[in-house]
Amino acid sequence: MSKRILSGMQPTSQLHLGNYLGALKNWVKFQEEPGTTCLYMVADLHAVTVPYETGELSKATREIAAAFIAAGINPQKSFIFVQSAVPAHSQLMWMLSTMAQLGKLQRMTQFKDKAGKNTERVGLGLFAYPVLMAADILVYKATHVPVGEDQKQHLELSRDLAATFNTRYGVEFFPQPEPVITGPAPRVMSLRNGNEKMSKSAESDMTRINLTDDADMIAQKIRKAKTDPDPLPEKLEDLANRPEALNLVTIYAALSGETREQVLKKFAGQQFSVFKPAFVDVAVEKLAPITRRMKELMDDPSQIDKILAKGNEKANEEAAPIVREAMKIMGFYS
Ligand code: TRP
Repeated sequence: MSKRILSGMQPTSQLHLGNYLGALKNWVKFQEEPGTTCLYMVADLHAVTVPYETGELSKATREIAAAFIAAGINPQKSFIFVQSAVPAHSQLMWMLSTMAQLGKLQRMTQFKDKAGKNTERVGLGLFAYPVLMAADILVYKATHVPVGEDQKQHLELSRDLAATFNTRYGVEFFPQPEPVITGPAPRVMSLRNGNEKMSKSAESDMTRINLTDDADMIAQKIRKAKTDPDPLPEKLEDLANRPEALNLVTIYAALSGETREQVLKKFAGQQFSVFKPAFVDVAVEKLAPITRRMKELMDDPSQIDKILAKGNEKANEEAAPIVREAMKIMGFYS
């Protein structure tokens, strides 16, 4: 069977380097594999399970779509669409919710984290979040789902729901979606503290490289990134207790497409005064075209809207018949 890849990103942020290296860069690669259908969505229905700014949602949705396009996802090859524009996601979610066990949902670590202590007041949407995610995947009969570690448990539930549906109705309808954890995902840490993840919520903007930063800003952030006084070592092990140095070498390698060992081979014995300018060059070369394109798109959102309108239409054409078929299997009047 041909490969169908689906993934999604929530329109909650401020995209940064971590989103690009951890997700988008790989998503772009999948579209080059022959016989593969790639479906990439802006998961806006998921974004409203936590408090959010009403006035920001549609802008954030466009921004994620812009990042997809700027990073190199080609709307001619891949589906780029908005979850809320495809009603089949919500429809299938309802069907699957009848098969999702409360006990399993209660064990979801992300739910526990997000709900905190106040479980009585948590919305049903936050609780049902993984069921919607299963619907996102199954509604396209996706076979492969690139996700970060934090989403693996949700994907496990999707597999479970696919199997439950098939068993309960005695069909082989939904394939079991496989997680794709791509390579050793670069752990991109804060530029100011090598022990903290690079994050949109960190207070200082200097801790992260945003996908909207221009070349000058990227250069400035790298120049100001925290380092230590020692020269770079020859071996990766020798960076074990130097979190900031390790982070910079990791990012450099991820951007240049080399291994960290290769990077160290090049810079062993050199000070950061030598490494950083080289880093700035690589970062600007690889990132500036993306951030520039992203800005262009955001300055003229009509381009994004056109791409999304087309993508939404195509996604609906794929998903609607699958949900119809699933409902028929369940015995609904049709
Ligand atoms: N929950 C995912 C996240 O926060 C986003 C997402 C929504 C997703 N639906 C999906 C990812 C389906 C993969 C497949 O990162």
